[in-house]
Amino acid sequence: MSQTKIESILNENRLFQPSNEFITHSRIKSLAEYERLYETAKSNPEDFWATLAQQELHWFAPWDRVLDWQPPMAKWFVNGKINISYNCLDRHLTTGRRNKAALIWEGEPGDTRTFTYAQLHREVCQFANVLKQLGIQKGDRVGIYMPMIPESVIAMLACARIGAPHSVIFGGFSADALRDRLNDAQAKLVITADGGWRKDAIVPLKEQVDRALADGAVPTVTTTLVVQRTKQEIKMQPQRDHWWHHLQPTVSAQCPAEPMDSEDMLFILYTSGSTGKPKGVVHTTAGYNLYTHITTQWIFDLQDRDVYWCTADVGWITGHSYIVYGPLSNGATTLLYEGAPRASNPGCFWDVIEKHGVNIFYTAPTAIRAFIKMGDHLPKSRDLSSLRLLGSVGEPINPEAWMWYHQVIGGGRCPIVDTWWQTETGGIMVTPLPGAIPTKPGSATRPFPGIIADVVDLEGNSVPDNEGGFLAIQYPWPGMMRTVYGDPDRFRRTYWEYIPPKDGHYYYFAGDGARRDEDGYFWVMGRVDDVINVAGHRLGTMEVESALVSHPAVAEAAVVGKPDEVKGEEIVAFVTLESTHSPTEELKKILKNHVTQEIGAIARPGEIRFSEALPKTRSGKIMRRLLRSLAAGQEVSGDTSTLEDRSVLDHLRQGS
Ligand code: PRX
Repeated sequence: MSQTKIESILNENRLFQPSNEFITHSRIKSLAEYERLYETAKSNPEDFWATLAQQELHWFAPWDRVLDWQPPMAKWFVNGKINISYNCLDRHLTTGRRNKAALIWEGEPGDTRTFTYAQLHREVCQFANVLKQLGIQKGDRVGIYMPMIPESVIAMLACARIGAPHSVIFGGFSADALRDRLNDAQAKLVITADGGWRKDAIVPLKEQVDRALADGAVPTVTTTLVVQRTKQEIKMQPQRDHWWHHLQPTVSAQCPAEPMDSEDMLFILYTSGSTGKPKGVVHTTAGYNLYTHITTQWIFDLQDRDVYWCTADVGWITGHSYIVYGPLSNGATTLLYEGAPRASNPGCFWDVIEKHGVNIFYTAPTAIRAFIKMGDHLPKSRDLSSLRLLGSVGEPINPEAWMWYHQVIGGGRCPIVDTWWQTETGGIMVTPLPGAIPTKPGSATRPFPGIIADVVDLEGNSVPDNEGGFLAIQYPWPGMMRTVYGDPDRFRRTYWEYIPPKDGHYYYFAGDGARRDEDGYFWVMGRVDDVINVAGHRLGTMEVESALVSHPAVAEAAVVGKPDEVKGEEIVAFVTLESTHSPTEELKKILKNHVTQEIGAIARPGEIRFSEALPKTRSGKIMRRLLRSLAAGQEVSGDTSTLEDRSVLDHLRQGS
């Protein structure tokens, strides 16, 4: 984060109270009520979660122990039997929600489809039977590489219904990235589409799947299922590839939900860390169901009549937890939008809000900052009066963007929930409860009840108010990740031993820097590890570096983030070339394309700087701190005495 942003956050002390009108209808109505809830949860977390689990979810069989905590391995609701697809669908059919809209889909070329709970249930049951017919059994992993269409949601719920863990891979990832993830998850089947619409172009998803699977590169995948979306021509491989619309009508619409053990794996979702290899974050069934359910209900203050819209992609955790599982478990109407704001349709988000009367809108700061640039006339010329609550996620929101969101989109009347959380946490951890906690622009405010959050130093000591430290969580919570798929050691090391356990207390290390102010409000400053956040997308610097050095021209590469007004951060890559290659503009383009091909467009460096050497310590470690300053165009400050060759710095400054 840039110095000016940090300064503006440090000086931020405006306080916004929810309106009386909002409070009257909200679930948790005062700070005192929040604090009571928080204390109840803190003094007896197991009781707190057990009461909610009993009250809010359907169980096929009760658990016999709420929590089995053998740090860092947690089991919640031990031996309980449950199915999240049942909780998201079946149980609503016997209530007044049977014919309520469960899913409203707005397609990119303007097509719309709506599924009631009864209709969505039917589609999910049928598709679950298709999966079974293709040999998928409980425990088999299924890859999902799809556009933002209803079939993505149906596929996820169908996998959950039969107990086949899904691994959704964001449709913007390249064939190479897809192949690595499918292999790591040892997926048996891949669900995809002929193509998807993205910003007026077609993404050739099936073609990428073909590339990923070519020459038996993913030996475990024997079958693919293809949704027809764009209708462009694709090659179907007999025996291996099947059309969704051919199989779906041939199967029964009866498919009882499989009773799953509480701790059965629900999904694997890959995310970037500070090493080159993305981590398969594992979430299990009951705890995740409860945590996404209750956070959605309280934080978005869901009312039965609401139309709720989260703009994330289902390929990320926000899509999993807050488009699909959380809202549907609550019987809400969730909106899925295939499009994205772009030059040819800059007002599309506001059109969707107006058209569907959206009440709750959840998006990312990068989008908000892009909208500010596009101009107030776009939202102001639409009727946004249906909105009553706004949310923000994915990166710190700067107070300027917060104020604009509040005034121009929320008309000054909508509380903003700035929600801090991660793929690993499963659900939102630090956030306002909108009727109860007054907001400060740029602060995610207070921890959710049941979450013991702290700002600590590397020894695990709480730091004084308003001093910077590491954001850490001190006690397990139901939505927490259970392990890194296939690598429990990495799970232990990365998250639970970074801050050494003290007096039997373990700290979950989030990888974020933060401070807590005198009111107990958290201010998240951004990553403290080698992870950069580009337009709300999380990328490991090593991941991008590995992609660069896999090109024959590159001898060495170091990647850092540079502050960007809209994207938050942008990737800058410092590259030294093999002696056989010369630094040219053309080569910069080739290398950028190479990263796009290796990982996907989200990882494409904004800037490549060639350099004869990289600044290193005497022990050979790249001094990223220096590179970050250089990339940001700042004077290199701080200690440079450990630099091995000081002339490197002069060369880099001159941009040679
Ligand atoms: O750095 C934090 C940032 O996003 C990271 C998690 O990224 P990911 O696992 O992809 O999940 C994104 C959606 C939950 C965090 O470590 N982050 C997320 N939300 C916020 C945030 N930083 C500041 N404020 C937030 N509200």
